Amino acid sequence: MSSVFRDGLLNGKVAFVTGGGSGICLRVAERFAEQGAKVALVGRTQEKLDGAVAGIHRAGGEASGFAADVRNYEALAGALQKTRERYGAIDVVLCGAAGNFPAPALGMSANGFKAVIDIDLLGTFNTCRAAYEHLRKPGASVIAISATHGFRPIPLQAHVCAGKAGIDILIKTLAIEWGGAGVRLNVISPGPVEDTEGMRRLAPTEEIRNKVAASIPLGRFASKDEIADLAVFLSSDAAAYITGGIFVCDGGQSLTGASFAALLQRP
Ligand code: COA
Repeated sequence: MSSVFRDGLLNGKVAFVTGGGSGICLRVAERFAEQGAKVALVGRTQEKLDGAVAGIHRAGGEASGFAADVRNYEALAGALQKTRERYGAIDVVLCGAAGNFPAPALGMSANGFKAVIDIDLLGTFNTCRAAYEHLRKPGASVIAISATHGFRPIPLQAHVCAGKAGIDILIKTLAIEWGGAGVRLNVISPGPVEDTEGMRRLAPTEEIRNKVAASIPLGRFASKDEIADLAVFLSSDAAAYITGGIFVCDGGQSLTGASFAALLQRP
């Protein structure tokens, strides 16, 4: 699906995308590149990043891949530095790296809980903290990919719920602290998104996916394009006065109180 925006909305901008090797964040990176941004992708596996970069190049965009784990502050700072050296600036930062596995709290070790908190929450803090000195100001935009988990409890997802709630309040806090420097920070909070690793883990069968879709007022999962278009808007100058917002993009699912709760197996 082609973008709903006029061409070149992000011309001249440089975007740094964690979790950009696959899934929602790769689709965001592709959309950023389509709109004229130069894009740096960060993920744990260089090979995966190379494939993603090649795809963006084939489509006529500009991209580079720098391997780093968002849990490792120094590695992340190094990837930001390389991005700055290659493209001269960083205007847009998307914090998207995330981890997930379905398990009851009693079925996960302290280390399992910590693994997800470290990737999602600490990883978002590390990305924002390390990126600040590079962000061109004013007009810089940071977007964190959270989930509706951040404001509604979902069984088998205690680690993710805690991590996403932390991301939501972290970004609001930074929006206050960094507003004076002209840096805007916002959160995108998706519900179920089709064709993602997260949904393959949470809704592994057709039967569960159909039940989840039936719980959504718009009657279907989001596409990755729909999340990416929201990211394009929030990173563009059209959103120049928007900061500290949580943008729920879930087809209305969270309005109804429906969730995976009734669908997931009890421990
Ligand atoms: N149930 C219970 N515990 C689990 C688990 C599961 N399904 N999967 C992993 N864990 C636990 C491990 O047992 C380990 O704890 P332990 O040391 O006490 O045994 C802990 O989580 C860390 O596992 P490990 O595989 O070493 O961590 P990692 O850092 O390599 O991977 C994960 C992090 C677990 C989040 C992994 O699922 C991942 O890398 N995910 C990225 C992709 C992804 O989740 N995408 C969807 C995003 S929405």
